[in-house]
Parts: sequence; C-alpha cells; structure tokens
Amino acid sequence: MNIVLFGPPGSGKGTQAQFIVQKYNIPQISTGDMLRAAVKANSPVGIIAKSIMDSGALVSDDIVLQLVEERVSQSDCVYGFVLDGFPRTIPQADSLITLLDSLDKKIDYVISLEVDDKELILRLSGRRTCPSCGKGYHVLYNKPEKDGFCSVCGTQLVQRDDDSELTVINRLNVYEQQTSSLKSYFSQLGILYNISGSGSINEIQKQISAVLDTGDFGDHS
Ligand code: AP5
Repeated sequence: MNIVLFGPPGSGKGTQAQFIVQKYNIPQISTGDMLRAAVKANSPVGIIAKSIMDSGALVSDDIVLQLVEERVSQSDCVYGFVLDGFPRTIPQADSLITLLDSLDKKIDYVISLEVDDKELILRLSGRRTCPSCGKGYHVLYNKPEKDGFCSVCGTQLVQRDDDSELTVINRLNVYEQQTSSLKSYFSQLGILYNISGSGSINEIQKQISAVLDTGDFGDHS
C-alpha cells in the first residue's frame, strides 16, 4: 500500500504518518525529516537546504527527488510506504509517478488533510518535536506526559526553526502558490481522498483507517 499524505504545513501529515506506520507497518518517508537530518549532519545537501528551509521556501526538485528515489528503492519499502511532504510540485509528482512505474509500483491513496489557516498557525506555533526520536507534540493539543520532555525517550523537546510566525506565513503562501494545485492533479488520477483535518487526532485516524481499510470513503473525489 503506497500512500501520499498531502496538506498544508501543520495539517497533521507527520502526526498521522506516525499512526499509519504503526497500524499498517510501512515506513514513513518524510522529505522534511530527511532534509533536517542533512542540515544537522552539515552535508552538502544540508548546507544548500538550510537557508531555503529557514525562509519557508521549497528546496529544489532535483535535491528532494534524489532523496526520495534512494529511499523508495530500499528493501523496507517493498510492501509499501507513506510519503509525508512529497510531492509538493507538479514536476515532483510527475517524477514520482515515473519512478514508481519503473519499480512496478503506483500511488494507491493520496489522503488530503484540510485545515483552515488560523488553526494551522495555532498548531505550528505550539508544535514541539523530540530531536532524538522525532516524535511530535503540541503544547495544548498533544501534550507529552512530562511538560517539555519526550514521552518515548525522555529527551528535551525543541521548537523547529521554521515554526517562527513570519516563516509560517511564508510557508502557507508557498503551499498555496506551488503545492495546492496538486489536489486537482491527483483528483484527475482518481486517487484523491479528502479528509477534514480539523477534528481530534483520534477522529482523523478513524477517517484515515476508513479509507485505507475499505478502499473507499465518503468524500472521495
Ligand atoms: P516539512 O517538514 O514537510 O513541513 P510541512 O509540510 O511544512 O509540514 P509540517 O511538518 O510543518 O506539518 P505537518 O502537516 O506534518 O503537521 P504535524 O503533524 O507536525 O517541510 C519543511 C521544509 O522542508 C519545507 O518548508 C521545505 O523548505 C522543505 N521541504 C520538505 N519537503 C519538500 C519537498 N517535497 N520539496 C521541496 N522542499 C521540501 O502537526 C503540527 C502540529 O499540530 C503538531 O504540534 C501536532 O501535535 C498538532 N496536531 C496535529 N494534528 C492535530 C489535530 N488533529 N488537532 C490538534 N493538533 C494537531
């Protein structure tokens, strides 16, 4: 089962990807996480990506495509994967389809999470992440057991550099201008499933399960 989790920054892609990984036993492929790892390692890709990510713009298609190509070809992806934050442009989507075709694979589901901008800004400003195991939290909506520390591994939680107010606004603009049109792209392929991303994390998990377990759901477009 090959899934794309689609939606604006803060819509819950990473949160729901963690649920899909656990329930369906397939790996998460997050281009944002891969780029942040490259920045942390100070690799050539990381050095190029850092200032672009801090501004809220998109890293070049070539760079992210290479990361995804290498990852999708690994053996743990043989029974499926969940892509989080990729594709984000039409050329990325075209290249993904060509790549999967060459591996005799296809995208089975694109799950699009819909959330209004006001809520997205609230979510991103309150987001905290574990720098060690990557688990995500929110200061109000998804609290760790002990304030400020990861419930899984106990590491002190951090705020992402690109979650500052100005960068968040730019990320939302970039989404509107460069990414949102992919919804009609996927709709035309008949693989788009729209889900409201505004309920509780559990309610959204149930809606995603309804799509993935039955292969269909009310708002399929
Ligand atoms: P990336 O890391 O992909 O960030 P993003 O798409 O902006 O998405 P986020 O991770 O911010 O949000 P999310 O939807 O995963 O929400 P989350 O689950 O964390 O990309 C970062 C940067 O890398 C980009 O700006 C770009 O520069 C570069 N990049 C990455 N991919 C690229 C690509 N393909 N091409 C080019 N450049 C690329 O949830 C957010 C918060 O809300 C959390 O605190 C969570 O606990 C909370 N929350 C989640 N669900 C709910 C809910 N239902 N109710 C209440 N709170 C909730």
